[in-house]
This record gives sequence, structure tokens and C-alpha cells, in this order.
Amino acid sequence: MQTKRVPASDEVADWNAKYLWHPMVDPNVVREHAPLIIERGEGCFISDIDGNRYLDCTAGLWNVNVGHRRPEVIAAILEQLNAIEYYGTFANMANVPSIRLSKRLIDMLAPEKMRRVMFSSGGSDSTETAFKLARQYWKLSGKPEKTKMFSLKLGYHGVHFGGMSASGNTMWRRAYEPLMPGFFQIEAPYLYRNPWTDDPEQLATIVAEQLDRDIQYQGADTVAAFIAEPVQGVGGVIVPPASLWKKFREVCDRHDVLLISDEIVTGFGRTGAMFGARGWGVAPDVMCLAKGINSGYIPLGATVVNERVANAWDKPQALTGIMHGYTYSGHPVACAAALACLDIVEDEDLPGNAGRVGAHFLRRLEELRVYDCVGDVRGKGLMLGVELVRDKKTKAPFAPADAYPAKLYEAMLAQKVMVRVAAGKVILSPPLVFTEAYVDEAMAALHSAFQSVKPAT
Ligand SMILES: Cc1ncc(COP(=O)(O)O)c(C=O)c1O
Repeated sequence: MQTKRVPASDEVADWNAKYLWHPMVDPNVVREHAPLIIERGEGCFISDIDGNRYLDCTAGLWNVNVGHRRPEVIAAILEQLNAIEYYGTFANMANVPSIRLSKRLIDMLAPEKMRRVMFSSGGSDSTETAFKLARQYWKLSGKPEKTKMFSLKLGYHGVHFGGMSASGNTMWRRAYEPLMPGFFQIEAPYLYRNPWTDDPEQLATIVAEQLDRDIQYQGADTVAAFIAEPVQGVGGVIVPPASLWKKFREVCDRHDVLLISDEIVTGFGRTGAMFGARGWGVAPDVMCLAKGINSGYIPLGATVVNERVANAWDKPQALTGIMHGYTYSGHPVACAAALACLDIVEDEDLPGNAGRVGAHFLRRLEELRVYDCVGDVRGKGLMLGVELVRDKKTKAPFAPADAYPAKLYEAMLAQKVMVRVAAGKVILSPPLVFTEAYVDEAMAALHSAFQSVKPAT
């Protein structure tokens, strides 16, 4: 995605090209276009190795919610490192920060009646854990045939085999097929692009009915769970109609299927509610957490299950052993960082700030509709997207090889504003400590970029 820039030293660029494979990109592209090498951060700003300072409108990968280099979080990490750097949570081992964090999460998730936490090293681990616990739950509940998983097209649930098989985008799967058997997708609630309707409520009914029909088609007695993001993130910031999650809950209840909320991006305030599903008025059975749990200061994931699910493990039987977990499940430094981050999230009401500043951002993004290449703008809280189109009338997207989106990204960087451009969308997901003044700064750069960069004719 990046184009040519002068690296701080030829040697660094050379080593990068020779030795480092970057995720989610063709290595040949990276060889041609040196990446931006970030060296420092402070609040809502980041700096590269050449000393250029950028307004961070991505919060890393929508994870640095409390902002960069917060002294409170660094102090908590150092305090834990000075006590012990690592001891895990396998079997009958434990450490204090992971126990404290599990209690903190269960308290925060009291409205959802969550009861147990399993830690891991990140988002992909967290969804994988959810799929395995869902299958185990049904075996413990005397319904061993309930193993299949449903998800949404354009959903993203990480890169492990389960998560990849649940993810609904061909681009992420083709090189690694065959996928896991038993994973099925229904249409995304994509208001801007769907063959049926412009009416959100009608779309909610259509999508929920498809889930209902396809579960019946597979046989409800074979379906373990349905997983979805409360707002689909990297698939294009697809905000579902307001009633859809309640409809999902009803369909899952009707067919005795677990509802898994992938809160890896939406958890801890990004959509304006503390959790995305809570914002839709729905209590899931399982929640996948990562990213905002400790703002990315140290890798950490968590899978949380409600009373109904946890109760299946209460009486020992043949398969109650949880033969799953990672060396870094409950890493004490990651958990200590999380406790400090969650203090900030609650004390500074970051969900409230995300709601207020996000509403201002969305209002201002509407201004971009005057430009020919802007097909749609949408968002919830500080999760926002601008959909680029080659032709507004037909909604034709840019071809994957078209240079326009990358040029737009370059124009933003030239104005010292970092955004993410992926799959023909400009994605904006700043730290949740963002302000309206920063929004206005980002908007000035967006206006200038859309005015100066034109697609090839
Ligand atoms: C909704 C969602 N689920 C899962 C993941 C995977 O998380 P990780 O990259 O930490 O493995 C991501 C990552 O962006 C995500 O956005």
C-alpha cells in the first residue's frame, strides 16, 4: 500500500526487504515500496524514524484505545516486570494479574451474566478458543452433533483455521484452502450494497431470515454457534441495522444455537457503548476480546462465556478437561497492562467520548459526499469508513490494482495524517481519547486529499 519514501538508513530498508515478511501484503509489493517505520508515539500522535509526526487516525490496528505511551500503563507494566516477567496459568499454576483481570472482566460483564474467562495471546486465539469451547459445550450438554458454525460474509475473525474458515472474504482464504469443514456464511447486512433493499429494517429482516433458514437447512441439531462482529470492521465498517442483533438473538434462541460476539474491535468502548453487542441491547453467550483490552501495549486475548455455557463444566464428566490454552494465556505483564488500561477506559469514560467525538466525525464525513469518488460514509462511535467508488451511479468499486486508493493514502500521509486504506475503503479508527479538534484536523486533510488526487481516466 505504501509508495516510495526515503528510509532513515539504507541498511534498515535493505534488511526489511531481505528478511522481514509483513502480514497481509505481497512481499513483492513491500520490496518495491518501503514501509513507514514508526519509532515513537505520544497520545494521538506517532512519529517515524525520520522524525515525521502524524495524527494517528487508526490507533495502530484499532487497538491503541487509550492512546500511545500512557505513563499509567507503562508504570503498571514496569511494576509487574519488577515482580516477575512471566509465569503462566496452565493447570494449577496461576499469577495474580490474570486472576485480578478475570474478576474485573466478569464484573464489567455482569449485565451479560458472563461467568468465566479464558485468556490467550490475541484476537485470532480468542475466536479459536470460542469455537473450541462451543463444540465442547455441546458435547458436555449431550448434543455432540452440534458442531457447525455460522458467520457473516465480509466478517473477519482472525487467521487461524477456524477463524479463517468463519471469515467471509475470499481474499483472506484462497492461498490457504481447503478450509475447515462445517463453517457456513450468510449475507452481510450491507445497506450500501445488497440486491434487496435500501430500507435498514427490511434488510435486518432479510438477513435474520436467511440465518434462520440456513440453520434449518443444515439441521439445527448440527449447529453449534453463530459468530458475528457487532459492527463489521475490516470488511468495510458495515454497521448493521439497529434491530438486527436482537433478531440474531431470537434466531439463535429458537434453534438452540450459541451467539458469539466477536468484540475484538468493538469491545471496551469503540462503538460508543462499552461492548458492541450491549450497544445493540443484546447479551451474547460468548464474547471474544483482544485489542482494546489493553490497548495493544502487550499482546492479549480473552474469551468470556456466560453462566449457561460455563455451567456445563460444573459437574466432572468424561470431557470436562479444557485441553486448550497457550503458553501466554494470562501473561502477567499483559494482564497488568490491561488492568491499568481498563482504569483509564472507565475513569475517562472512553465509550462516552467515542460516542460524542464519533458523532462529530460522522457528521463531518458527510461533507465528503460531494466528491465523485465517495460512494458512502458510515460509522458508529470511533469506527468509521469512507467507501471509494469509481462510479457513483453504478457504485462500481476500484479494481484491486487501481492506484487511486494508495495515492489517496499517500496524500494523507503527506499532510501528516495516518489513515488506513483497505479494500477500497478509508478506515478511520483513532484512539478513543480523540478530540473534536483532531477530527477537524483530519477532515481538512481529507478534503485536501480528495481535491488533489483524481483517479486515472
Ligand atoms: C473482528 C476481529 N476478529 C479477530 C481479529 C484477529 O485478531 P488478531 O489480529 O489479534 O489475531 C481481528 C483483527 O483485526 C478483528 O478485527
